[in-house]
Amino acid sequence: MPYEVQGVVARGKGQEVSLETVIVPDPGPGEAVVDVQACGVCHTDLHYREGGISDDYPFLLGHEAAGVVEAVGPGVTEVEPGDFVILNWRAVCGQCRACLRGRPWYCFATHNAKQKMTLKDGTELSPALGIGAFLDKTIVAAGQCTKVSAEAPAQVAGLLGCGVMAGLGAAINTGGVTRGDSVAVIGCGGVGDAAILGSSLAGAARIIAVDVDDRKLEWAKEFGATHTVNSRENDPVEAIRDLTGGNGADVVVEAVGRPETYEQAFYARDLAGTVVLVGVPTPEMRIDLPLLDVFGRGGALKSSWYGDCLPSRDFPMLIDLFLQNRLPLDKFVSETIALDGVEEAFAKMHRGEVLRSVVVF
Ligand SMILES: NC(=O)c1ccc[n+]([C@@H]2O[C@H](COP(=O)([O-])OP(=O)(O)OC[C@H]3O[C@@H](n4cnc5c(N)ncnc54)[C@H](O)[C@@H]3O)[C@@H](O)[C@H]2O)c1
Ligand SMILES: [Zn+2]
Ligand SMILES: [Zn+2]
Repeated sequence: MPYEVQGVVARGKGQEVSLETVIVPDPGPGEAVVDVQACGVCHTDLHYREGGISDDYPFLLGHEAAGVVEAVGPGVTEVEPGDFVILNWRAVCGQCRACLRGRPWYCFATHNAKQKMTLKDGTELSPALGIGAFLDKTIVAAGQCTKVSAEAPAQVAGLLGCGVMAGLGAAINTGGVTRGDSVAVIGCGGVGDAAILGSSLAGAARIIAVDVDDRKLEWAKEFGATHTVNSRENDPVEAIRDLTGGNGADVVVEAVGRPETYEQAFYARDLAGTVVLVGVPTPEMRIDLPLLDVFGRGGALKSSWYGDCLPSRDFPMLIDLFLQNRLPLDKFVSETIALDGVEEAFAKMHRGEVLRSVVVF
C-alpha cells in the first residue's frame, strides 16, 4: 500500500512553501522507504524554493535527514528494516568513469529512487537533491541509506547528510587542510562553521572566520575559529593577510556562494594556496579576474561538491567521533521545529538567527 503523508512542497518561484499530501510508493527493486525522524533546513532548500537550482517545480524539499528504514524493495542487500540511517545524495554507481578510476566521491551517475513521489492528483514531485525528506516517510535508492550507530540522536546525525558534511569535507577532503595550516572561512553558517570545525580537527594552526554578522562570528569561535573578521567593518582580504604575516591563508573556504566573496577568497590566500568554493552560486552570477593573477598566484581553485565525501566511509566515522565527544555536531542544532515551521526557518536563516533549524517528527 502506498503511503499518504504530509510533505513540504515549493510550488513556484517566490511562493512560500506549503504542506501538501504526498503519495509515497512502496519500494521497488533497489529502493527503500525510510521513516524520517529528523531533517535539517539547509540553505540549498531555500535555493530550490527561489528557483536558483532549476525550474522543475513542484519541489519536495528537505535533504539533511536521518531515520529508520521502514521497508525495502526486492534485491536490496545494503540495509534492512529497522536500520538507523543517514540519507545521502551520493549513492555511488561503481561504473561511471569517476568510479572506475577509483574516485567514487566524484561519481557522475549517483542513484536515486526510480519511482516518483506525487501529489494526490498525480503531479510528480522533484525531490531536493534526489531525497525530499520534509515528510514522515520518503522513498530513496537503497544506496542513499548509510547505516550509522543508532546511539546518535537523529537531529544530529541527519546534519551529516548535507551541510555539515559539505563543510567538514570542503576543509579536510577538498582543501586538504592539515597540521599547521592557516585557514580562512568566508561565511559562517552551518556549512562554514563545519569547515571551521573540520580545519580544527585536521590540526590547522590558525582559523580565521569571516562573516557580516557578529552573532555568526561568536558561534564560529565555538567551532574552533582562532580569529574573527566582520567583513562589513573591515576589508577581509587585508585582515586575513594581516593575521597571516602579510601572506594570506594556505586554504580559504568560500561558504557563501557569491562573486564578491569568491574574489575575497581568491585574494586572501597565500601564493600557491588553495581556494575551495563550497557556497552555491545562482545562474546569473559572473566573476571577472585578471588572468595574470590566476596564473601568478598559482595554487589551486577548487569546487567542493558535498565535501568530496564518501558516505559509506565518512558518515559512520564522523558519528563515532561525535559519540566519543570529539566532534560537537550537536552544536549545529539551533532549534528543533515541526514540519509546518520550515517557511519561518527560512526567515530565521535569512535573519541570521540560526545555524540549523531541524524538523523533528
Ligand atoms: N557544495 C555543497 O555541496 C553544498 C552543500 C550544502 C550547502 N551548500 C551551500 O553552502 C552555502 C552556505 O550554506 P549554509 O546552509 O551554511 O547557509 P547560511 O545561510 O546558514 O550561511 C551563510 C552565511 O554567510 C554569511 N554571509 C552572507 N553574505 C556574506 C558576505 N557578503 N560576506 C561574508 N559572509 C556572508 C551569512 O551571514 C551566513 O552566516 C549555500 O550557498 C549553500 O547552498 C553547498
Ligand atoms: Zn559512479
Ligand atoms: Zn543541503
